[in-house]
Amino acid sequence: MKILGIESSCDETAAAVVKDGFCALSSVVNSQIDIHAQYGGVVPEIAARSHIEVINPVIREALTRAQCSWNDIDAIAVTYAPGLVGSLLVGTLAARTLAILRNKPLYAIHHVEAHVYANFLNQNPPKFPFLALVVSGGHSQIVLFKAHGDYQILGETQDDAVGEAFDKVAKIIGLPYPGGPEISKAAQNGDSSKYKLPKARLKGKYDFSFSGLKTAVLRAVQKEVGVDFNFPSFELAAKLSEQQRNDFAASFQKIAVETLVGKLELAVKDFAPTTVVIAGGVAANSALREELVKRVSDKLPDPVIFTPPELCTDNAAMVATLGAFQAVLSKPKDPLELEVKPSLSMSDSNW
Ligand code: KG4
Ligand code: ZN
Repeated sequence: MKILGIESSCDETAAAVVKDGFCALSSVVNSQIDIHAQYGGVVPEIAARSHIEVINPVIREALTRAQCSWNDIDAIAVTYAPGLVGSLLVGTLAARTLAILRNKPLYAIHHVEAHVYANFLNQNPPKFPFLALVVSGGHSQIVLFKAHGDYQILGETQDDAVGEAFDKVAKIIGLPYPGGPEISKAAQNGDSSKYKLPKARLKGKYDFSFSGLKTAVLRAVQKEVGVDFNFPSFELAAKLSEQQRNDFAASFQKIAVETLVGKLELAVKDFAPTTVVIAGGVAANSALREELVKRVSDKLPDPVIFTPPELCTDNAAMVATLGAFQAVLSKPKDPLELEVKPSLSMSDSNW
């Protein structure tokens, strides 16, 4: 069985062909990072227009690289939630149109769930029940996966996602977008105990909050360079030395990683999962990987699963993989009816 996956929820236009749910025959990703970098973040209107320009060539390329004609494709899977509405619309309308024209079953994919399913794309997938830590630019969640399509969100961010916090802190200290990889690099030459930053305390046992941490970095930078809060924040970075920038990156990253790992440690104790799967763009962070292995791996029967770096950021292979499970376990959607759901929670995505 071959599934064509289509992804356009944020700033990557992607298409992939996955065979039998675990073998990626192709995975094409057209990133818009260069376009948005000059604005310091994703501009929704520009993202939607850029998806329109490249969606057809990206799909064509995915079929060509997989050496597939339309006759070889058994079904289409598309991200319909959550994400930027204009971006979601482009991929979803392309998929609906192709499903009608080519007479293929259509499956609707939740983007966050797909990030976790990137880890089923090999011969050694996680065994149920497992915990997933989904950490991206839009999401920070701890989810208990009990079976395919059966899961429970244990905790999530109450404000900014952790990737968003990496991006915002990078902007404050003068590192380019996307901030995650840049902070990670700068932190390697920084002193993580130089600046004392607070860890948020929350009522929900497994919930996170990153907005206060971001503001704490802003205040600490203002103090360090000797200005008050009236000073324009976009001019702060120019006053920092390279060493101060590295120290801020390391101090921020330490607290962000400790927050994630601390909550995950509690969930591992309470739910005794077979393993923990780390998914989403921030899963590429090496400090997070090291700390997790140190703190939770001896409490799990199976080794911690880190999404391979090329599958951490947005792609369509993860979408096609989840589509392959849906094709076996659920019914296709009506291509005339499928609507995008920009803010749908994973717990409300039933298939
Ligand atoms: O999953 P993703 O590609 O897109 C969303 O669905 O959000 O994640 C992108 C996020 C960005 O915020 C980026 O800064 C962050 O992942 N990121 C990282 C690293 N690589 C990407 N954050 C920390 N460390 C990294 N190495
Ligand atoms: Zn994503």
